[in-house]
Amino acid sequence: MNLRRLGSSDLEVSEISLGSWLTYSGGVEREQARACVQAAFDAGINFIDTANVYGRGAAEEVLGEVLSGRERSSYVLATKVYFPMSATDSGLSGEQIHKQIDASLKRLRTDYVDLYQCHRYDDETPLAETMAALTEVVRAGKARYIGFSEWPVERIEQSLALADVERWVSSQPQYSMLWRGPEAKVIPLCERERISQIVWSPLAQGVLTGKYLPGQPPPAGSRATSESMGGFIDRLIAPPVLEAVQRLAPIADAAGLSMPQLALAWVLRQRNVASAIVGATRPEQVHANASASGIELDADTLAAIDAALGDVVVC
Ligand SMILES: NC(=O)c1ccc[n+]([C@@H]2O[C@H](COP(=O)([O-])OP(=O)(O)OC[C@H]3O[C@@H](n4cnc5c(N)ncnc54)[C@H](OP(=O)(O)O)[C@@H]3O)[C@@H](O)[C@H]2O)c1
Repeated sequence: MNLRRLGSSDLEVSEISLGSWLTYSGGVEREQARACVQAAFDAGINFIDTANVYGRGAAEEVLGEVLSGRERSSYVLATKVYFPMSATDSGLSGEQIHKQIDASLKRLRTDYVDLYQCHRYDDETPLAETMAALTEVVRAGKARYIGFSEWPVERIEQSLALADVERWVSSQPQYSMLWRGPEAKVIPLCERERISQIVWSPLAQGVLTGKYLPGQPPPAGSRATSESMGGFIDRLIAPPVLEAVQRLAPIADAAGLSMPQLALAWVLRQRNVASAIVGATRPEQVHANASASGIELDADTLAAIDAALGDVVVC
């Protein structure tokens, strides 16, 4: 497993990391979550991503339990704040940030997270207040570094212009062969500012593994069939998308790669991406995905991917 430096930080993160969004917030059994985390460590993954809102604390609790007993410095732990934790607890006010970091640390059974991320931008709170609170969290030793997820570009720019606040080291956007939005503005800005991307849904929630076939019901046990995990996948399993994804299969074959390897190597071709955060419901998936680290795609393969996907790509 190759490591990449996270922005201007001194953190070295594995090119493939393990997320916990729909999966370890209740979608899969606790023992299955434990097996996936174990598989991640076995495969050389050192970077785990979660958020306070995943299962309203449930994912952090599972990870806190599963990670307890492991040498804390042996992994890089990231969580997030913003989305509602109760009818009155949400957003990025100073009060919320201080309250939510303490609650996250308690659930995660640790004194610090390596990365504390703002899950979205909060229009209700002055930016300076958010940045001051994040800075206090870092200076109190509760987080080593800060990051944002899906912030508007102008807000990122405004935050970078503030004095005496901590600097961002990471940006967490959706990014995959099918979803290329960050390429236009976010990645160029972050490259200039030494901020890395750590990207979510790099497999388009499993669709880029090729397992969803056009015109056929989703395979048993997949996310699309899950009542608790399938709520966000509809757009990705639309027939034109699935047809385009099937056109990737011969390209993967010709390159001697599996479909997950092709999809993950594609996001990692971008040097500003430090890590692809994958979800996994089973340990075999973790291993299959981890094997994408270090794979380089040549120019012909990249061109063939673009031609195969055509206009189903969202830019
Ligand atoms: N910042 C944000 O706003 C945000 C938003 C979303 C996610 N995230 C983060 O990004 C992480 C990843 O998101 P995601 O779970 O959507 O990512 P993903 O890696 O695109 O999709 C993961 C799902 O695909 C299937 N899968 C994974 N590997 C597979 C393989 N080798 N073969 C076949 N199927 C495979 C599994 O689902 P099944 O087995 O159920 O089919 C798995 O749960 C999240 O856990 C979270 O930490 C962040």
